Amino acid sequence: MWRVKSLDAILATAEKKSLHRSLGWFQLTLFGIGCVIGTGIFVLTAAGAQKAGPGLMLAFAIAGLICIVAALCYAEIAAMIPVAGSAYTYSYAVMGELLAWTVGWALVLEYAVAASAVSVGWSGYFTGTILNEFLGIQLPAYLAAGPLALGGAEGGLINLPAVVIALLITGLLVLGTSESAKVNAVLVAIKITALSAFIWLTLTSPQFDAARFNPFLPAGVFGGFGTGLGAVGAAATIFFAYVGFDAVSTAAEETKNPQRNVPIGLIASLLICTVFYILVAAGAIGAIGGQPIMGPNGVPFPAGSEELARQCALPAYADQLVCSNEALAHVLREIGFGPIGNALGVAAFLALPSVILVLIFGQTRIFFVMSRDGLLPSFLSKVHPKWKTPHIVTMVTGVAVAFAAAFLPVGQLADIANAGTLYAFMMVAIAVLLLRRKEPTRHRPFKTPLVWLVAPATIIGCVFLFFNLPADAMMVLPIWGGIGLVIYLLYGVHKSHMRKGAVEVHESDADLPPPPGTT
Ligand code: ALA
Repeated sequence: MWRVKSLDAILATAEKKSLHRSLGWFQLTLFGIGCVIGTGIFVLTAAGAQKAGPGLMLAFAIAGLICIVAALCYAEIAAMIPVAGSAYTYSYAVMGELLAWTVGWALVLEYAVAASAVSVGWSGYFTGTILNEFLGIQLPAYLAAGPLALGGAEGGLINLPAVVIALLITGLLVLGTSESAKVNAVLVAIKITALSAFIWLTLTSPQFDAARFNPFLPAGVFGGFGTGLGAVGAAATIFFAYVGFDAVSTAAEETKNPQRNVPIGLIASLLICTVFYILVAAGAIGAIGGQPIMGPNGVPFPAGSEELARQCALPAYADQLVCSNEALAHVLREIGFGPIGNALGVAAFLALPSVILVLIFGQTRIFFVMSRDGLLPSFLSKVHPKWKTPHIVTMVTGVAVAFAAAFLPVGQLADIANAGTLYAFMMVAIAVLLLRRKEPTRHRPFKTPLVWLVAPATIIGCVFLFFNLPADAMMVLPIWGGIGLVIYLLYGVHKSHMRKGAVEVHESDADLPPPPGTT
């Protein structure tokens, strides 16, 4: 279980694919922004404010900073090993099969659960803006949200729109639909325009009042272990708003001059998003206020909790930022820009599905690579003869994504996705350091600057955010990891192709569609 995949063998297979390289740094940055801006900023701004109040701005800065150091580590290893499978493949080459398996298993949380979270976020805008504002249809509470969803939707049973969008996207992926780079560029433009308009209108609004930033940290910096509160608790949740930038590294195989373009794409997309997020948080809070709803003991009610939902159902709180399912559109409506708020709702409605597409796609490719390595059953990596897609693994993934989206609230899904992502980021930083030690002379097209500072900062940052997640999200990782370990010991360890001395080749995925938004 400690066997490693030879780096040379991996690189030789990557070589075979190098003919397809077409992406430059600009497309890669657009691709990164396309994956990153989504439910985190459009929806979780509300949950973030409930955890930290105006300290949400600090939370975006903390999470952004940790992602930037993580991205510098990703850049080194992705430029060095530009192949499919991302963190899973890197770990396989450096830390051995067992740890690679745990990373691949944790990536299920990052990609599949994140896809569920974005589906639920999309559902908020679909029911609020499209059904409610435009068509005047009020979806019954039992179809609009899972049980105990944020926003006063008590009586929720199943989130039907989230299920439908997750299954629709799965259908498109099964048929081999790949979003073109042009469509991605248009969607990025829509998102950037919507956020820029939001920032401009809120910051210049007569309702903007600096007094709303006081108290700046109503729940403190540290809200207490396991509570997920305070500025760092909010950082652990809205870390979700940055999840997906690592998809840029999965496109390394398709990138021209990856040693230069992958790092630029990673860092540029993150920096742009960080600036936007902090300004959006400032605008939202300055315009309508974002103080948390406090419980009787002076501590904010947990975001996504039943108690908070009950408070939000009261007329006194109904218009609060922290109660909205479509936070940004809500803010604009509150300050008298109803039609622009609706237009922003339409922007989210149009653009979030492409985030779901990239996340489900990423998940299927990771399962695909794991199955090709023998760690998952081989039928999962079967490619459909006509559609040329890994249709079985795509359908299995899609159904699981829809199932989680049906029942869980967006904040909890995001926290769970974050737990898995933080583990994967930490392992990538460890892999970078180990590789510097083990193979100091190997060619590194991009070297992480100050690696002995940046990689440990990534590791510490990830562990720190993890321990500031709410207790239930924290618990999911060891439980999920335990299940994964049992599966590995019962199955993967015996079936691994490496065990049989076989090194996978890239023939079976030669015809698969490229990542959405890249061609
Ligand atoms: N970062 C992505 C989002 O916020 C996953 O939707």
